[in-house]
Amino acid sequence: MPSQKVFKSQDNAVYTTSTGAPVAQPYAAERIGNIGPLLLQDFHHIDLLAHFDRERIPERVVHAKGAGAHGFFEITHDITDLSCAALFKKVGTKAPVTMRFSTVGGESGSADTARDPRGFAIKIKTEEGNLDWVFNNTPVFFIRDPAKFPHFIHTQKRDPQTHLKDADMFWDYLSQNPESIHQIMILFSDRGTPDGYHNMHGYSGHTFKFVNAEGKFVYTQVHVRKEGGFKTLTDAQATKLAGENPEYGLQTLFEDIEKGNFPEWKVYVQTMTAEQAEKFRYNILDLTKVWPHAEFPLRPVGKIVLDKAVENYFAEIEQAAFSPSHTVPGIEPSADPVLQSRLFSYPDTHRHRLGVNYNQLPVNAPLAPVANFQRDGAMTFVSQGSRPNYQSSIVPLQYKPKAYQNIAHEHWLGHAQAHLSEITELDFEQPRALWQKVFSDTDRDHYVSNVAGHLGGAKSAEVKARQLSVYAAVDQTLSDRIADAIGAPRVKPLKVKPAAEAIRFKVSSV
Ligand code: HEM
Repeated sequence: MPSQKVFKSQDNAVYTTSTGAPVAQPYAAERIGNIGPLLLQDFHHIDLLAHFDRERIPERVVHAKGAGAHGFFEITHDITDLSCAALFKKVGTKAPVTMRFSTVGGESGSADTARDPRGFAIKIKTEEGNLDWVFNNTPVFFIRDPAKFPHFIHTQKRDPQTHLKDADMFWDYLSQNPESIHQIMILFSDRGTPDGYHNMHGYSGHTFKFVNAEGKFVYTQVHVRKEGGFKTLTDAQATKLAGENPEYGLQTLFEDIEKGNFPEWKVYVQTMTAEQAEKFRYNILDLTKVWPHAEFPLRPVGKIVLDKAVENYFAEIEQAAFSPSHTVPGIEPSADPVLQSRLFSYPDTHRHRLGVNYNQLPVNAPLAPVANFQRDGAMTFVSQGSRPNYQSSIVPLQYKPKAYQNIAHEHWLGHAQAHLSEITELDFEQPRALWQKVFSDTDRDHYVSNVAGHLGGAKSAEVKARQLSVYAAVDQTLSDRIADAIGAPRVKPLKVKPAAEAIRFKVSSV
């Protein structure tokens, strides 16, 4: 079937309707005489208006504002002992990637420098299908109970009545859900305002499982570290840029690539065996915790380079559809309940935002050939020709067995129950280490002033006191400094269960 030529902006194209018929005058509409009524027969005019009326598709419910580009992932180190993914088979393999960076809470037109985590999504087109790494620029997250996600997101968005962002609902949620404190320690440091989209690291946050050809797996976290380091803005710089150049991140990414200053990241993994995971102080399925590098060193895998700016933003970035469930043999999700929920949520939202055939759009279409029994649906671009649409004995498909038929999966035992995690002293150890050991004096000063600028805007004395008690559980001085800065009474630490009562990771636990 002959297909349509895709024009580049510089091509000497002739103006046509959407059906390819040439039209001499794009501004003219057919009518009776010079001032008479318009004619319904004017396909050009109706084609123009009807398409315009439908130009917008739903924006992403979160991560609506973003920027992206294309490049490659090159394997520089052999990790075939960890994973049998075709991508890792040979050092030197290069796979094409599309990356999209984003803020989380704001709408599609919001400022790039807003204080927010940043999305860090990578689509890697491997010979065995697409591998999407849908990461953030922080190694931890706000929640570990997936049902909290819509509540949490609603409080970061607009108030149902005033349609304003609201400091009271923001801190009301966080102060009632103190497992968020680790992420809040990062978010209100200068890391919460990265310098553009491409001067930051990306982290899986979740634990995944890398499985080798023998079916042995290791728990794995992925780190994508920016060459040249993580660059940040101060609150004052970010606020100024939000007013003067809200597209700062979008612009600097595009311009750097056009100038040949290609952003580059090194990819590493941290791994743990199941035995190590059972002895580890924290539950590896709780993404509010990090794995200390000293205990679990970073092992290099490869590098990612972005060397191609987009030709058409809508087609290549707005229509990009990332999902943690787009994975390949050799990389499996862990039982992290937030990850498991995300496996459902992303393809579900893509079907709503882009349609059931979203994986046929050029930016999403795998390089690996697709052969299955899915057919038809709106916007079918790839019909799979005359191949039968059922499991046929006359024209059978070939089936490739997984390299690891006998994967040593966890052996889960237990009763079905509605479970909600509890806060224990463990939730404050890593945030405390950040405040007491990792932050410099300047970082601490910025932290207090960044929080004060936001928490000070909450009207409810109760909400402020509750969040201060969460801070006091991290460190009393931290809480007192914020209290003084916002003119609120100092408070005592939130009472929590001892660390000994925390649920530990056990693969065969009840
Ligand atoms: C975007 C859901 C947690 C990273 C999205 C979108 C949804 C969603 C519905 C919009 C996708 C689209 O329209 O294309 C959820 C749910 C979560 C969760 C239900 C928890 C239960 C996380 C976590 C991370 C993350 C923990 C990172 C570790 C991202 C990124 C995007 C995104 C990077 C933007 C992808 C893009 O650039 O298109 N999320 N999310 N999310 N999420 Fe999540």
